[in-house]
Amino acid sequence: MTNLETEAYIRCRNISKTYLKGKTEVTPLRALDLDVQKGEFLALMGPSGSGKTTLLNLIAGIDQPTTGDLWVDDKNLSGMNRAQLTDWRAKHCGYIFQLYHLVPILTAFENIELPLLLDKSLSKSERHAKVQAALELVSLADRSDHRPTELSGGQEQRVAIARAIVSDPELLVADEPTGDLDKESGRQILDLLSALSNEHGKTIIMVTHDSKAADAAGKVLHLEKGQLVENAIT
Ligand SMILES: Nc1ncnc2c1ncn2[C@@H]1O[C@H](COP(=O)(O)OP(=O)(O)OP(=O)(O)O)[C@@H](O)[C@H]1O
Ligand SMILES: [Mg+2]
Repeated sequence: MTNLETEAYIRCRNISKTYLKGKTEVTPLRALDLDVQKGEFLALMGPSGSGKTTLLNLIAGIDQPTTGDLWVDDKNLSGMNRAQLTDWRAKHCGYIFQLYHLVPILTAFENIELPLLLDKSLSKSERHAKVQAALELVSLADRSDHRPTELSGGQEQRVAIARAIVSDPELLVADEPTGDLDKESGRQILDLLSALSNEHGKTIIMVTHDSKAADAAGKVLHLEKGQLVENAIT
């Protein structure tokens, strides 16, 4: 067996992140090690300001660690330039936000289609077939022509999930995806994420403040002051 086969899908090795705000340094992540297996559904908890979004952004290739190495599959994201990182992200990672971030003037269909417009190798009919499949996967085929204002919060988040998976990335990151939803809509989102992990083999990292939401994941880790801790206070 080669090394790659035995290694975790995501490997964070001694990663730190420091921001410079004026003359003040902020270090939201310190010497962090993390392994995530392929297909794992991981929940990340921790107090406000503990570095959860910072870590998610590094794993999603939106930002890069100040020190240390961050491997996803066979790619070291720490060593990439901005263009390589953007290209990697478009192919491999879908991001789901707390407040959906849909484009208000576009329909559900058009919102989901957006990431596919970057892929010039796809024909219009191929693109449309992918959007239709994503709409069906989130059970919103009948809301295709609705704009975000014509959808409930739970439906908006399902459109956002369809947009995140339409390019078929192996990795999904979600930052408090149920944070703005009522219990029932939140439950639907968690069931959808579980199905994406169990039935579609997606690796999912979900930040949440809700321990009940975290129960949907196969594993829960806690961050405190930029480090993973065993005995969490949250
Ligand atoms: N771009 C940035 N520039 C400067 N400081 C930042 C930046 N992003 C985050 N920080 C700081 O890093 C720390 C961690 O922020 P982060 O957003 O990762 O926390 P969080 O755990 O996601 O919190 P919350 O639960 O409130 O969303 C905070 O002190 C924040 O002010
Ligand atoms: Mg956050």
